[in-house]
Amino acid sequence: MSRKPAHVIAIYPGSFDPITHGHLDLVERGSRMFDRLIVSVLRNEAKQSLFSVEERKAMLSEVLNVYPNVEVDSFDGLLVEHAAARGATVLLRGIRAISDYEYELQMALMNRRLAPEIETVFMMAHEAYSFISSRLVKEVFGLGGNISGLVPPAVEARLHARLSNHKLKGAT
Ligand code: PNS
Repeated sequence: MSRKPAHVIAIYPGSFDPITHGHLDLVERGSRMFDRLIVSVLRNEAKQSLFSVEERKAMLSEVLNVYPNVEVDSFDGLLVEHAAARGATVLLRGIRAISDYEYELQMALMNRRLAPEIETVFMMAHEAYSFISSRLVKEVFGLGGNISGLVPPAVEARLHARLSNHKLKGAT
């Protein structure tokens, strides 16, 4: 096994469609643990998303530019190959509830099999945010519910813009 690198780089991968306060909390805590944290958006043409990868990256960059050791990237293909290409030795993931555990365990074990030198580190979501998911934020917002406090204001503004755009398109 290789020794601890002098400079520990971690990748925080995800869909981030869009970033929520739950993700943001993990980035903030991760930025204090690792020398460099790369928040990386999966490019997955098969998965339907509300925001394009470029829009998600723009939102992440806007919200995360206060952290000097955090950067935003995207990837396709295998996560461990992306991590290796970026010199990362840690994959960071959050766990909100026991329901997340099974999926995360499977991914962590598969990633370990593919690249044993890369370690998955889990952080427990902050209890204030453990019920938040991008999927539910979109659902509540789409149904007219209040999502303030669940996502950063810049993301809320983008959601409003996206909705009024759709309404405008629907009206023509
Ligand atoms: O935010 P999400 O959608 O839960 O993130 C899932 C993600 C991006 C971490 C996962 O789908 C992923 O790592 N995809 C890359 C493909 C891959 O490496 N698969 C094999 C190992 S599980």
